[in-house]
Amino acid sequence: MNPIVSDIKTIDESRQGEAFYLPDTEDINDIILKRFYIESYGCQMNFSDSEIVASILSECRYKPTQDIEKANLILLNTCSIREKAEETIRKRLRTIDKIKISRPGTMVGILGCMAERLKQSLLEDEKLVDLVVGPDAYRDLPRLLNQVEDGDKGINVYLSREETYADISPVRLESNGVTAFISIMRGCDNMCSFCVVPFTRGRERSRDPFTIVSEASHLFERGYREVTLLGQNVDSYKWQHPETHETYSFARLLEQVANVHPDLRVRFSTSHPKDMTDDVLHVMARHENICKYIHLPVQSGSSRVLSLMNRTYDREWYKNRIEAIRQIVPECAVSSDIIAGFCTETDEDHKETLSMMAWADYCMSYMFSYSERPGTLAARKYTDDIDEDTKKTRLSEIIALQRQLSAEHNARDVGKTFKVLIEGDSRKSESEFKGRNSQNKMIVFPKAPGLNPGNYVHVFIESSNSATLLGRIVTN
Ligand code: 5AD
Ligand code: SF4
Repeated sequence: MNPIVSDIKTIDESRQGEAFYLPDTEDINDIILKRFYIESYGCQMNFSDSEIVASILSECRYKPTQDIEKANLILLNTCSIREKAEETIRKRLRTIDKIKISRPGTMVGILGCMAERLKQSLLEDEKLVDLVVGPDAYRDLPRLLNQVEDGDKGINVYLSREETYADISPVRLESNGVTAFISIMRGCDNMCSFCVVPFTRGRERSRDPFTIVSEASHLFERGYREVTLLGQNVDSYKWQHPETHETYSFARLLEQVANVHPDLRVRFSTSHPKDMTDDVLHVMARHENICKYIHLPVQSGSSRVLSLMNRTYDREWYKNRIEAIRQIVPECAVSSDIIAGFCTETDEDHKETLSMMAWADYCMSYMFSYSERPGTLAARKYTDDIDEDTKKTRLSEIIALQRQLSAEHNARDVGKTFKVLIEGDSRKSESEFKGRNSQNKMIVFPKAPGLNPGNYVHVFIESSNSATLLGRIVTN
């Protein structure tokens, strides 16, 4: 039977345009009572949460549909990280309202960070929404849905100190059957002054490592060949056995997941420079299947701005962490998040960001201009005093430099051979595969007979641009 295309979508730039598939299901048409349609916005964590939501909904006989017009329940899993993300959702809600008006009885729900941030006001002000559910309240969805079906509104934005959804087996909505996300922790205790996440996702808590390793093993048995361990700050993963009191650090967890099988690749995201230990780097160096790629957001290259951002490290500390990576895992690629135009940022500070980017030689960055978020430390303590034009100019300089660094990075890979995990057909052609090397670079190459997604191949790189490497399969 062909896979059923679900309509989980993500607006994360790196994933935009991908289709997502559900595993085969027997006689699905016989057992479906109701259908839900879900769109995910923002970070990978939201995408992973949508898979937990799909699992919880399947228990109350909701099945996903790719056709919003056929859905009894329309869900938006939302992001609040920047104002623009919230505007996108509001616009989308107004479009969805037309469907709701044309098909009375259709329920609309807001999940995730925006639900948490705006709470009751989403139900009251908008009148477009029936259901508002925060990131820690997804288990309550069946009860809330009953409430909505009975004509009431459903809201639960309770933030938990314990919820990790450890026992829930996510319904994999990933398209390729090769790569999957595993949430290892939730929330964040860091309080970076610009960031709304600690308010929308609550306190940091780590998931039972045994359930993480078992989820990775099951994925491997089902043909998956890559897992990405997800958390806002994976380096502060910490779990204590309730009986033995033995503690598990991220380094220990990473090693255990790597030991599931040598053919299961392991990635992780996001690392925080203040917490990234040499222990983790040594574990990476010891295991070929732990991908040699670290997303280590710097945010700014200026120590003064970093202090205002409450990042709790300075430029020197960050450089020291990069030097440790270069020494312990020399082939490791590093990417970053960068914010242009944070409060009080001078031209000099901005230049320090550019020089840090060049020094760190990022293979890739996610780049943003500062967007003040209500309730954050920065909104309360500082003035958003950099005008939009200056933010825009600085951001475009950062983007131009990153484009150049990525192109140079990729050009240096021409002539090298990489082990690549095949993920599927390339976007442009059915006669080509796409896959990633350990350093997370996308590689496109002509297909060869007998190969399928999930297989590893060696690819010789013949050419490159700033986004992709192009090559051909070689025997070794
Ligand atoms: N403005 C701009 N960028 C932000 N980020 C988080 N909060 C803001 C904000 N208020 C960026 C940071 C973070 C990434 C996920 O989003 O770079 O690492
Ligand atoms: Fe936000 Fe900082 Fe936590 Fe990342 S580490 S989620 S930027 S508070």
